[in-house]
Amino acid sequence: MLRAPAVLGVRKRPRPAEAGGAGRQEVKFGDVRLYLVERKMGLSRRSFLTRLARSKGFIVDEALSDTVTHVVSEDREASSLWTWLRQRALKDLPGMHVLDISWFTDSMREGRPVAVETRHLIQDTLPTPPGCSTPPPAPASSISQYACQRRTTTENRNRIFTDALEVLAESCEFNEMEGRCLAFRRAASVLKSLPAAVQRLEATRGLPCLGEHTRAVIEEILQCGHSFEVRKILSDERYQTLKLFTSVFGVGPKTAEKWYRRGLRSFSDVLAEPGVRLNRMQQSGFLHYGDISRAVSKAEARALGNIIDEAVRAITPDAQLALTGGFRRGKEFGHDVDFIVTTPEQGREETILPQIIQRMKKQGILLYSDYQASTFDVSKLPSHRFEAMDHFAKCFLILRLEGNQVDAGLNNAEGDSRSWRAVRVDLVAPPMDRYAFALLGWTGSRQFERDLRRFARMERQMLLDNHALYHKTKKEFLAATTEKDIFAHLGLEYMEPWQRNA
Ligand code: CTP
Ligand code: MN
Ligand code: MN
Repeated sequence: MLRAPAVLGVRKRPRPAEAGGAGRQEVKFGDVRLYLVERKMGLSRRSFLTRLARSKGFIVDEALSDTVTHVVSEDREASSLWTWLRQRALKDLPGMHVLDISWFTDSMREGRPVAVETRHLIQDTLPTPPGCSTPPPAPASSISQYACQRRTTTENRNRIFTDALEVLAESCEFNEMEGRCLAFRRAASVLKSLPAAVQRLEATRGLPCLGEHTRAVIEEILQCGHSFEVRKILSDERYQTLKLFTSVFGVGPKTAEKWYRRGLRSFSDVLAEPGVRLNRMQQSGFLHYGDISRAVSKAEARALGNIIDEAVRAITPDAQLALTGGFRRGKEFGHDVDFIVTTPEQGREETILPQIIQRMKKQGILLYSDYQASTFDVSKLPSHRFEAMDHFAKCFLILRLEGNQVDAGLNNAEGDSRSWRAVRVDLVAPPMDRYAFALLGWTGSRQFERDLRRFARMERQMLLDNHALYHKTKKEFLAATTEKDIFAHLGLEYMEPWQRNA
């Protein structure tokens, strides 16, 4: 059994705003910010409930702002409440829970924020436009704000919008505006899940995660076929340069920015600059740039699967190899091919990757290898930050793939007569009892993973990462041998890998 680490006892200090009045109270649920609607409730009951919630470690905001996560109202009349809420000029209203007082009383009784259930929700009822007898289109409120509750296949019917939003997200990322970046990515992800193309702005009404800015972009595209803001970004020198530099394997936004500030604008600028020292990864990135910036096809992924499977079998016949990442989600093309390998014998998985690498080297197909030994330690708390790397043994490779091993032939450039190409491959080797978590974590998509973790935290008081699932209030780890076990622990309907293209 895994032990709860001591760090869990650490509690956040209340922010000054919550500490006024009757002395300081400990904040236990930093992720949840309540706002109690005074209408119907009345001022004195509102003050009483506010004190009650604070005494139990909840944050209660006096003012309704975009940082509020749970709006609680005693006014069950949805239309007037929603009209009032819409007039508050909130950007994040679609992401907030608008709840009946029953959620509040349940939470006070339990001494923690209980999971939001449908019976708690005060749902927005869209008014029927005058003169229109048919009811409004499918209730957008039935679409969850969490990607892990939306089935998203590779068939994106709103690519024209999502491509634009992803440019905006990336531009925010280059400018270190993480909040805005995430908002655009969330909006794009919601649009990807829709069963049909958005043809009128009204069709987006009530959709979660679509802010003012996103709506304006959608409207512009609907009217003009493109967004001027996106066009401006695409022709911006800084954006173009950072996009170019970060397309090199081993070059992240930080390095790209550094090169840009030195006045470098092209690969030849970088390579000719005496002050720039490339690490081994970046050197390989430049060396194989043409090949690895070209998409990998499904047939190529299959061929690599065969090569790696053969290596694994030769080393440990009872090892288990599985395709993961985008190809497991059913994508036709990827930027790399991801595999997960594990062994029934605990501890054996730590030596298998170096052996696979050694074998490929002997076969003459290893063009680059970055092996990272396991730093996995069961006493480590599941991380709050998705971006944090996991601790399993893993390697980032560039392999030489021969054309005669690929059924459909290589996805090489027109006029390229070589009989081979370079391909990026990732391998991760978790211990068998962590396999389900690692598989779920490496299958992606990134947005799906982010929302799984956010859902676990916000709705279930659980922490999820590539290693484990931890129940914060019960202070225990929940075991899983399959992905289905993890969805079940989270109280989520199971999603097939091909439905996780959020
Ligand atoms: N991942 C991770 N830790 C890493 C790298 C990746 O957990 N150090 C996970 C991410 O959840 C990601 C998945 O592995 O979703 C696959 O990563 P990546 O290959 O970058 O993305 P894909 O979804 O496979 O997309 P592509 O087809 O472009 O490769
Ligand atoms: Mn991948
Ligand atoms: Mn990868």
